[in-house]
Amino acid sequence: MGRSHFAARAVNNGKIGVGVLGLGQGRSHLRAFQLLDGSTVAAVCDQDTVLAGRVAQEHGIEKRHPAYEAMLEDPAIDLVVVATPDHLHGQHAIMALEAGKHVLSEIPMAITLDECRRIIELTDRHGLKYHMGNQVRYAFCLRDVQQMIRTGDLGEIFYGEGEYLHTMDEIVANRRSDHWRVHPHTPQTTLLGGGPHAVDTLRWLMNVDFVEAQAYHAEQQSRWQTTHTTVAIFKAAGGAVAKVTVSYGMVRPYCLYYSVYGSAGSFERTRDQGGAVEDTINYHYHDRIAGARRMAPVTLPNWSNPAIQRQHALGHGTMEIEQAQHFLRAIVTDEEPAIGPREAARSVAAGICALQSADQGGGPVAIPTFD
Ligand SMILES: NC(=O)c1ccc[n+]([C@@H]2O[C@H](COP(=O)([O-])OP(=O)(O)OC[C@H]3O[C@@H](n4cnc5c(N)ncnc54)[C@H](O)[C@@H]3O)[C@@H](O)[C@H]2O)c1
Repeated sequence: MGRSHFAARAVNNGKIGVGVLGLGQGRSHLRAFQLLDGSTVAAVCDQDTVLAGRVAQEHGIEKRHPAYEAMLEDPAIDLVVVATPDHLHGQHAIMALEAGKHVLSEIPMAITLDECRRIIELTDRHGLKYHMGNQVRYAFCLRDVQQMIRTGDLGEIFYGEGEYLHTMDEIVANRRSDHWRVHPHTPQTTLLGGGPHAVDTLRWLMNVDFVEAQAYHAEQQSRWQTTHTTVAIFKAAGGAVAKVTVSYGMVRPYCLYYSVYGSAGSFERTRDQGGAVEDTINYHYHDRIAGARRMAPVTLPNWSNPAIQRQHALGHGTMEIEQAQHFLRAIVTDEEPAIGPREAARSVAAGICALQSADQGGGPVAIPTFD
């Protein structure tokens, strides 16, 4: 049974005390929480103690815990950011929830259905908050689109596509050759690595739950002998269909692509996206302009909200800042976070089931529900 989860605010001048586990991508969350008035980063933890020391010093953080267990014992911590390698998220989130801490976890929530179910059970039992950090839901260029689809402007949604295209050469450049992402025992999988950016964001845009998955891996492997490309088809409750492609093998610049098609109109992104703080183009078509030969382009900031000062933009623009702000609000107001444990499980289970299908050479796999 966890401790009272507001205990740390007494020792942090009323602020939510944050502990960051894993100091690669974890540093983006660290800086996001440092920028916000409602939180203080009280401690960091990384098994690479030299890195932990350097990050703590650079960011003026007093405490660095040599072991995760010690950070979980720290009464100054209300909230743990889990930013360790993919295969460890489930167990690290479970440990934090068992210790009475809220959790902001990097994608994926976990790599097994049992871990997803355990996280749901622990948040329910202890009244703790959990959010899976698919920060793409905070991309400025998608905000109006999601609203437009929710209000029914595109009519009844029947098809959508999501793509996460990011060459692994770029991801592991300048890292050790046995980095976990390409290590034979812990390789970053397609649908549970970058995959949640495609699957979770597409589900959110289409406003659907996926109930069945079928998928194939490209048989060609990367130079690390890992699977680099998977294509999945999902059947949604209500009859819509979706296609998700995740590739670490395509020789092209980074791309997060989405399209959504409804009975009254269509939305597509450009695949030429230009980076975090660049502008990008969304294309729309609607029965109001039926007969036009072109889709209507709308140029927007890609990942950065122009209302947030430019110097605050992080590696992914301002998305992590808005995500951290959202999660703090959910804790303080006791509301369900946008990608709470059940919502996260719906997306991650779709990825787990699609991987199962592809690993067995194709065929339908039923996706469990999380009500
Ligand atoms: N949301 C995004 O856009 C985004 C971007 C980059 C990475 N990520 C995710 O963030 C996670 C971390 O990726 P990364 O690129 O930062 O990897 P990384 O290898 O750079 O960093 C992981 C860190 O975790 C530490 N670590 C590993 N096991 C540990 C343990 N048991 N206890 C303490 N520390 C431990 C490592 O020493 C390392 O410093 C991954 O799940 C990755 O998919 C997400």
